[in-house]
Amino acid sequence: MAQAAHDAGTAPTEEQLSRAGLRLAVDGPVARITISRPERRNAMTGRTWTTLAHIGQTLPGDVRIVVIAGEGDIFSAGIDLGMFTPEGVDGERSIVTGLADGSADAAGLEEYIASLQEGFLWLRRPDLVTVAAVRGHAIGAGFQLALSCDLRVLADDASLCMKEPALGLVPDLTGTKPLVDIVGVHRATEICLTARRVGAHEARELGLAELVVGVDELPGAVDDLIQGLLATDRDAATATKDLLQRATGNTLEQQAEAERRAQIGRLTALAAGTAAGRR
Ligand code: CAA
Repeated sequence: MAQAAHDAGTAPTEEQLSRAGLRLAVDGPVARITISRPERRNAMTGRTWTTLAHIGQTLPGDVRIVVIAGEGDIFSAGIDLGMFTPEGVDGERSIVTGLADGSADAAGLEEYIASLQEGFLWLRRPDLVTVAAVRGHAIGAGFQLALSCDLRVLADDASLCMKEPALGLVPDLTGTKPLVDIVGVHRATEICLTARRVGAHEARELGLAELVVGVDELPGAVDDLIQGLLATDRDAATATKDLLQRATGNTLEQQAEAERRAQIGRLTALAAGTAAGRR
């Protein structure tokens, strides 16, 4: 994916971030996004997700790692339930606007949900490695946000819950595919259709967490992971993530061909670098 396509434009202002319940800190190759609405247990709104998409579109080109965490002792209580009230949240469009009286059209609602999904989709970009650092609850949209990341590091108090079916809804913020990819359709069915809480150690056993550590160890564990990720060549990391993302959908032969092509790209780039070094 062309990096230049993502670092054009103006980053969200502090005011836009604050209204979206987000904080952003960029330090060289590492961007840290914090979901920050502690008074609402870090519940998120449509604005949170459109602003997340905005962050993704305007990240500086040298950012390689994105870490997402929640403020305080919780990752996120999911969607702000006020989004389902006719009033919405803080003047923001309610998801149910026009549904009761039939004035909402399905195409408009689909476009709106697609705009929210953009806040989750960019986290799969091959030129980034995205890490969810999860303390406490990650419920509904919070769980889906963690699932959108490449890697999940959980504190041992973490609890993951796909609450949507219990509320009469489906998980629609791009979380169903990674969930099935990781745990398989049968376990995913059980987790979603019971809407039960999956604790940190079970999450580790199911592959939903790469690492589980004590609460106090979470920041250090994330920092160690970042250092490890920064130790590899960026272009090779990008090409490798791209290959890994295609593996499930490819046949063995298609994947072998993709590996050859990617390696030729790498060898050509390395040879050009070596030749440039000799000149
Ligand atoms: N939306 C809005 N406000 C929320 C909220 C949410 N999702 N979750 C918590 N809050 C608010 C509470 O209303 C409460 O506000 P007041 O102080 O004004 O009463 C405050 O945050 C603290 O909440 P609790 O006292 O409940 O905190 P707790 O620590 O005892 O429990 C919790 C934390 C387990 C997260 C519990 O608050 C909870 O279950 N929240 C609702 C979770 C939920 O159903 N989320 C929606 C999932 S579905 C989804 O995300 C996607 C989708 O539908 C498409």
